[in-house]
Amino acid sequence: MSAERRVALVTGASRGIGQAIAEGLAAQGIAVACLARKPENAHATRDRIREAGGEAEAFGADIANAEQVQAAIAEIEAQMGPITILVNNAGLTRDTLMMRMDLADWQAVIDANLTGAFHTIKACQRGMMKARWGRIVNISSIVGLGGAAGQTNYAASKAGLIGLTMAVAKELGSRNITCNAVAPGFIETDMTHELPADFREHVVKTAPLGRLGSPQDIAAAVVFLCSDGASYMTGQTLVVDGGLTL
Ligand SMILES: NC(=O)c1ccc[n+]([C@@H]2O[C@H](COP(=O)([O-])OP(=O)(O)OC[C@H]3O[C@@H](n4cnc5c(N)ncnc54)[C@H](OP(=O)(O)O)[C@@H]3O)[C@@H](O)[C@H]2O)c1
Repeated sequence: MSAERRVALVTGASRGIGQAIAEGLAAQGIAVACLARKPENAHATRDRIREAGGEAEAFGADIANAEQVQAAIAEIEAQMGPITILVNNAGLTRDTLMMRMDLADWQAVIDANLTGAFHTIKACQRGMMKARWGRIVNISSIVGLGGAAGQTNYAASKAGLIGLTMAVAKELGSRNITCNAVAPGFIETDMTHELPADFREHVVKTAPLGRLGSPQDIAAAVVFLCSDGASYMTGQTLVVDGGLTL
């Protein structure tokens, strides 16, 4: 990583993949703004980072709400400095078959998973342009590449993030700002906790690496994409799924 001070915003940093990403970036000497729906939801991550000797603060905003996102980003920048690393990780599911899905289920997932990234990128891009350096990483999913029955809303949001990633990469490349996506497979978090045992078994049997992923497996890819080592990579989707979709 670089010798200069860098500030990262990680959304959905209260647990699971977001917590591991926040910890992974902090371990590289990056100051991390940990965002969840409420600041107190991100206190545990903040405290874990501080205990490990890193720098972190906790913030709250509903990622789907433009005003709340703008207010949180203004607060972060006033307190910690300009954000030059943005990881759009916050996400949710509202799974059901299309036949039964109502507009509210569709809209809630699109608003948080896709429009949430629109809000944060819009609010952070000016600071990155000024710094003439920036890293944006959007957490998509293999479901955004291959679809999944019962997840039309989620698949559309995650495929949308891949399109957004490529377009932002084209818009901001000349300013030395990269934008990439990571598409995780099945990762052990609260989100996958409820998966039926037979599905879990299927993943373990089908993935060449023979296991579900850990949040740290995803964090490692994100840390790389945020590093100076990834400075010639943009608009890409890095699949981190133990080979499941091969
Ligand atoms: N787990 C997997 O297998 C898997 C696979 C592919 C992709 N992903 C993606 O990876 C990301 C993280 O997944 P995870 O498994 O770590 O999920 P998780 O354990 O359910 O955590 C979700 C995080 O997102 C935050 N969040 C949700 N809705 C929000 C909103 N409206 N505003 C602000 N924050 C919000 C939550 O904050 P609160 O604590 O405040 O609720 C929490 O920090 C998601 O985008 C998910 O789609 C996960």
